Parts: sequence; C-alpha cells; structure tokens
Amino acid sequence: MAKRWWLILAIYTCLLAFSSGRELQILEKVDHGSIYNHTMATILVEYASAVYVSDLTELFTWTCRRCDGLTKGFEVIELVVDIQHCLQGFVGVAKDLNAIVIAFRGTQEHSIMNWIEDLYWKQLDLNYPGMDDAMVHHGFYYAYHNTTIRPAVLNAVRRAKKFYGDIPIMVTGHSMGGAMASFCGLDLKVNHEARDVRVMTFGQPRIGNAVFATYYSKLVPNTIRVTNEHDIVPHLPPYYTYFPQKTYHHFPREVWLYNIGLGSLVYKIEKVCDGTGEDPTCSRSVTGNSISDHLVYYGVELMCRTPGTCRIVMDSQVTEYGTVDLGGNFILSRDPATPVIKLNTESDIGERPVQN
Ligand SMILES: *[C@@H]1O[C@H](CO)[C@@H](O)[C@H](O)[C@H]1NC(C)=O
Ligand SMILES: *[C@@H]1O[C@H](CO)[C@@H](O)[C@H](O)[C@H]1NC(C)=O
Repeated sequence: MAKRWWLILAIYTCLLAFSSGRELQILEKVDHGSIYNHTMATILVEYASAVYVSDLTELFTWTCRRCDGLTKGFEVIELVVDIQHCLQGFVGVAKDLNAIVIAFRGTQEHSIMNWIEDLYWKQLDLNYPGMDDAMVHHGFYYAYHNTTIRPAVLNAVRRAKKFYGDIPIMVTGHSMGGAMASFCGLDLKVNHEARDVRVMTFGQPRIGNAVFATYYSKLVPNTIRVTNEHDIVPHLPPYYTYFPQKTYHHFPREVWLYNIGLGSLVYKIEKVCDGTGEDPTCSRSVTGNSISDHLVYYGVELMCRTPGTCRIVMDSQVTEYGTVDLGGNFILSRDPATPVIKLNTESDIGERPVQN
C-alpha cells in the first residue's frame, strides 16, 4: 500500500511539474482581502475542529474540550450523524457572532491516506442541477444532498431563523467537510433564498469544474477556502492546465497560509489570493505533498484522535432529544426557544455508549 502511495505521489509530482508552468492569464485586479477576516477564521476553525468529536453528549451540550475556546457559549440546535455514510454535522447559534453556524465533519470511514489516494481518481461525473455544463463529483455532492444531513440541516436552519430572525449563516468544514460546506452554502442560496451566507473551509478538495466554479462564485461570493502550506488535499483532484475544459477547478477565494523566514525568525503569511480560484502564486506555487499540513490549521487540530472509526458515544441524559431513523441515522434536536441543556454531571451511572 505504501509503495503504491509513493508511486502515485511521484506521478502526481511529475504532472504538477508540467502543469504549474507559467500561464497566460489575465488576473483580475480586485480588492483582495475585502472578505477575509483573520479573527473570523480562527473562530470558525474551532467549529470545524469540534464537529469531529464523537461524544455526542459533549458536542450537543457544547462541553467538549474542543468546544471551549473561542466558541464558548455556542448553542447547538441540531446534531446529525449519518451512520450509513459516516457523516456528521451540526447547526447552532453563536450569539457573539449573531450568526447561525453550520459545520461538517471530514471523512472518517477510511484511513486519511486511503481517502486522499482515492481523490486522485475522482471523476467529474455529475451535472449540477440547473447549471448548464457545471460538473461536480457525485460523491461530494451526494454526501450533502442525498443523505440524512441535508434535511436535518435545513430543518434546523428554519427553526433557528424562526426564533432568531434572518441572521447571517456561516458554513464551515475541514477536508471532505469543506466540500459539504460548499454544497450547503450553495444550496442555501440557490434553493432556500438565504440572504447572507458565508462559507469558510479549511483544506478542502476541488469539487467541480471551471463552469461550476464560476456559478459558485457568483452565487456565494462570500467564500474563503483556506489552504495551509503544502496541504495535499486542496491540490486534489488534480488541476490540469492543458485540459481547461475538462479539469477540476477551485472556486475563489483562496487564502494561503505559509511561513517565510529562516531559523528562529519565521513569519506566518496569510496570502489572500486572486479571484480566479486557481491563483498560480498561491498554494499552486508549491507541491501539495503534506498530510500533516492538512491536519492542523491556525494551530488547531482537525480530524480526530481515532480515525477510521465511525462510532457514536452518547449519554442517557440526552437520549430524550434524539431520534433514530430506519437506517440507524441519528439526530439530536432541541427547540431554540428552550434553555440550553445542562448536564447533571453527578449521575454518570446512566452512561450508555451507543455503538454503530
Ligand atoms: C472580524 O470578525 C470579528 C469577529 O466576528 C469582528 O469582531 C471584527 O469586527 C471583524 N473585522 C472586520 C474588519 O470586519
Ligand atoms: C441516494 O440515496 C439513496 C438512499 O441512500 C440511494 O438508494 C440512491 O442510490 C442514492 N442516489 C444516488 C444517485 O446515489
């Protein structure tokens, strides 16, 4: 397996060497930086990290270790786990941001290595509904559109809006969760007339072709894709300069995090990239060859400690908020009008781990 991996990496490096040559491209002169907010990024990355937590009690009551820092006080309205497809997401309200926050977990089903390896071969095989010539990969699309996730998310957004009014919606996710966040943001704009939708993803793969990217950027202009250093995932599925009509193409706007300096003097740069989605001076100026750069953004650990598991752990104190469908998929849900759930930490006797 390791051998195959290195072979693929070698092939990819060669392809990149050919494709990252100078391009004749007229870059838009735009007001770079108008929508990127560093503080917001450091907050949203914590939401993207927390959604990996598999203890549903801690996540639902926002008491997990990852739920502590800049996201303190967040009120979860809905927590959905699609057991069949090993997906997880939540919707809640961040009163300090005066916004609804939606977060999606990245892949858990295989080792991250296998998942990344598969990314090389993903085909543009699905026409995005209602957009001529806009192609996406069916796996990314269906993860959001054809699972328990979408109806649960939309339902929670409806309930949140009913109670809090038409406040902004911020959608986030890391890796595969970033792909789902993009489809969710687009869905809210296209099909649900959401007014203020902001998407910020971390280390997300490409999800569609250039036509799709153009539609996407018109419909969800307030989108930031953060790429860390040499993170391999945003380089996948590959971009081929010599097949512009057939290739995957990122939508804008990338923010590329990298270090400059020598020895003890290292500066962290956050480069706000151009409006093409494929700025050759941003992450595409380097080889995407790092998995470790994929796992930590802004110093925050993403993924989870025990990858490869898709199990849920839950305390009996929150089971009354839960519903399970025929497929074993799980939703914890609370009325935004009710007070947040306080756990009775004295009685741990009722602990009942639920395993997939
Ligand atoms: C960036 O986001 C933070 C947190 O929401 C906010 O307080 C701040 O005003 C924003 N900065 C700008 C320049 O919009
Ligand atoms: C959508 O999901 C259903 C149920 O999981 C499945 O039977 C169906 O094949 C999926 N559709 C596609 C096109 O994948």
